Amino acid sequence: MNNRVLIIGALGQLGGIFINALLKRGDFVLASDIHAPNSNTLGCDFIILDALNEKKINEIILKHNISQVYNFAAVLSAKGETDPMKTWEINMGAFLNVVKASLGTSVNCIFWPSSIAVFSEQSGLDLVRNEVPMFPTTMYGVTKLAGEKAMSYFNTKGLIDIRSIRFPGIVSSSEPGGGTTDYVVEMLNAAKQNMNYISPLSEDTVLPMMHVEDAVSATLKLMDTEREKISISGAYNLGSFETSPKQWSEIIASLGYELKLEFNEDFRQSIADSWPKKIDDTLFRKDISWLPKFDAKSTAEDILRLI
Ligand code: SER
Repeated sequence: MNNRVLIIGALGQLGGIFINALLKRGDFVLASDIHAPNSNTLGCDFIILDALNEKKINEIILKHNISQVYNFAAVLSAKGETDPMKTWEINMGAFLNVVKASLGTSVNCIFWPSSIAVFSEQSGLDLVRNEVPMFPTTMYGVTKLAGEKAMSYFNTKGLIDIRSIRFPGIVSSSEPGGGTTDYVVEMLNAAKQNMNYISPLSEDTVLPMMHVEDAVSATLKLMDTEREKISISGAYNLGSFETSPKQWSEIIASLGYELKLEFNEDFRQSIADSWPKKIDDTLFRKDISWLPKFDAKSTAEDILRLI
């Protein structure tokens, strides 16, 4: 059976590629965001929707007989630190309003991404397992952890089926916005345009990253899995490869691009220092039978081709 999907926050880094993947497999897709796109090249219908407007979300769900909601509305880690209170209001408000608007409707499943930002030094950053102590250092991470606890409550009580993955930094041709891992995409764009790049993270800061297509394939596989096979009520770790600004620039250079790299660490360094170097996603791979398609080099190569 094809799904009838509402995407909230569809104009962000992940929206476009999710739209394409869902359309390709025959799902009905309605994209939404708080602003209109510059031009509608999304390939599906678009509607302006504020993720904090429960009533309007509910109306849209009813009108279009929506069966799944992908809720991507969030303020990311670095931007979130400029106004932590607002970050809480937006991220938790979007999470809760989508849940409330979906209860008692045709929606049978919600996807809501979590993040490596839930972790902290206490989590054992060299290889972070799925269930470890978490004391997030950013308000973004706090909202992701709070959302994880809330989804676990809703799942356990059988109120609504919510699924989640803790995404690492996502490498895509679309632009990220306001994240700590944004440098991976920015560096590719700089290389492509023959420009210098000033990294906000030190050369040896290792973080987990992933090609956006792998993030999409993992998510769709999770959404397609019967609930009984999902062994946890909260979010799954998901990993692919790890890289640092220096290693990433060397990969870019090995692909024939000249990139002059400088470093100017800012507040993002301490955020990155509190995040995992490597993710243990054994549980996800076991429950969902998924493997990434791209490694670091093939990711850089593919995204450089696309931008
Ligand atoms: N990419 C996100 C960020 O850097 C992490 O989920 O904020």
